[in-house]
Amino acid sequence: MAELTCVGCGPGDPELLTVKAVKAIRNADVIMCPTSKEGKTSIAYSIISSVIDDSKKPDVVNLVFPMVKDEKTLENTWEKNAKAIADVIKSGKSVVYLTVGDPSLYSTWIYLQRELKSKYPEIKITVIPGIVSIFAFASKVGISIAEGDETMAVIPAFYDLSRVKETAKNCDTMVFLKDGRYFDQVIKLLKEAGFSDNSLFAIAQDVGTSEEIVKKLTLGEVTKETFTNKYFSIMVVKRA
Ligand SMILES: C[S@@+](CC[C@H](N)C(=O)[O-])C[C@H]1O[C@@H](n2cnc3c(N)ncnc32)[C@H](O)[C@@H]1O
Repeated sequence: MAELTCVGCGPGDPELLTVKAVKAIRNADVIMCPTSKEGKTSIAYSIISSVIDDSKKPDVVNLVFPMVKDEKTLENTWEKNAKAIADVIKSGKSVVYLTVGDPSLYSTWIYLQRELKSKYPEIKITVIPGIVSIFAFASKVGISIAEGDETMAVIPAFYDLSRVKETAKNCDTMVFLKDGRYFDQVIKLLKEAGFSDNSLFAIAQDVGTSEEIVKKLTLGEVTKETFTNKYFSIMVVKRA
């Protein structure tokens, strides 16, 4: 049977694709890409489009994953998209499924893989890791994420601010991902959790793309204007 490969596409710069990722993309019969809305270009696809082998011209299929919290809608989405992949594989075509960064960190792949393994265990799956946005960010800003005995936490969104505060009390480096428009909500609680004004503060949006914005300052210097306004944002605060 044809194979399924999930490719981690890295943070945005096509030069940060691994050699393995490029090989898999160039060998694919069909490239399947996650997108949040019908008709919206997949970000993962825009990262890899320049490395596609034009002489081979794979089919490109977008799979829609709406950004909702409703469990039933999510389950239906995973089921439908896993079936779409399985149908192509069963027709004898090899599929590459794309994700931004690495497939194992907050990606659509995690749910698809679970669904595929339970419903289509006969499909052989290979996962190619990608450079995680957090580490592309750290190299851009010129900081370490953790050193010596420091601990780090990755916070995906502020669904539960009291949990964020408890985590911050016990952690040296706080990495915030997902929607930059909400990052300002945690500054006060970080200070309450013992992060002093001279703690390192770094924030970025669209790392590795032409829209990239990167700022490095201290927690005490942060103002309303410091924050980014995009979903593709990262913020790191490191205890002084
Ligand atoms: C659904 S998560 C996917 C994370 C991804 N799997 C990874 O390994 O980085 C999407 C979030 O990752 C972060 N992200 C991914 N790529 C980014 C980039 N190029 N610039 C800034 N943030 C990025 C943002 O916080 C964005 O909201």
